[in-house]
Amino acid sequence: MLIYNSALKQIQTKLEILNDEFQHVHRYNPIEHIKLRIKTSESIVKKLKRRGLESTISNMIENVNDIAGVRIICSFTSDIYRIAEMISNQGDIRVLSVKDYLASPKDSGYRSYHMLVSVPVNLSDRIVDTKVEIQIRTVAMDFWASLEHKIHYKFEGNAPENIRQELLECADMVAALDNKMLSLNEEIISMNDIEDY
Ligand code: GTP
Ligand code: MG
Repeated sequence: MLIYNSALKQIQTKLEILNDEFQHVHRYNPIEHIKLRIKTSESIVKKLKRRGLESTISNMIENVNDIAGVRIICSFTSDIYRIAEMISNQGDIRVLSVKDYLASPKDSGYRSYHMLVSVPVNLSDRIVDTKVEIQIRTVAMDFWASLEHKIHYKFEGNAPENIRQELLECADMVAALDNKMLSLNEEIISMNDIEDY
C-alpha cells in the first residue's frame, strides 16, 4: 500500500506541475480538480474472489489494476484529450492501456477516458513499476457518474428498467451540454482573441 500511495503522490505532483505550466503559458487551467483513492483491502479481496482468484499479493499485483486510482475532473471535453496527451508524453510514465468511453460510451451511458499507466516508484534499494488507473472526465460527466454509481449500488446492479432508461437519457443530456459548453467557450475565445488555443 505504501508503494501504491507513493505512485499516487508522484502522479499528483506531475499533474500539478502540468496544470501550473499550462496556467503560466495559456492563462488557463485544464484541470478543475483531482481525486485520489486507494482501494480498500476488502474491495481488493472481493474483486479477486469475483474473478475466482486466491487472495495473494502476486494475484493482487497482477490482476487488480485499480488499487491506485486518480480521477481528473475538467471543464471541457477538449481538456480530456489534452490532459491524456500530456500524461502520455511524460518520460517516465508508461501507458499500458486506454479505454475511450467518450468515443464509445458504455451501455449504461457512462462516458470517461480511462488510462492504465505504470509509474516507477524509487525505493531505497529498488525501483518498483506501479500501476495506476487514471479516469479523466468533465464536471458534468462526473455528476452523472456519481448518481449512476449510487443507484447501481442501491439496487445491487439491478436497477428498474425505467430508472436505467432515465439515466441513459440524462447521459445524452450531459453529452449535449458538454458539446454546447465547448462550442460556447470556443466562440467566447475567438471573440476576445485570447491566445489560449
Ligand atoms: P472493473 O470495472 O474495475 O472491474 O474493470 P473494467 O475492466 O470493467 O474497467 P473499466 O475501465 O470499464 O471501469 C473501471 C472503473 O470505471 C470502475 O471502477 C468505475 O469507477 C468506472 N466505471 C466504469 N463503468 C461505469 C459505469 O457504468 N458507471 C459508473 N458510475 N462508473 C463506471
Ligand atoms: Mg467495470
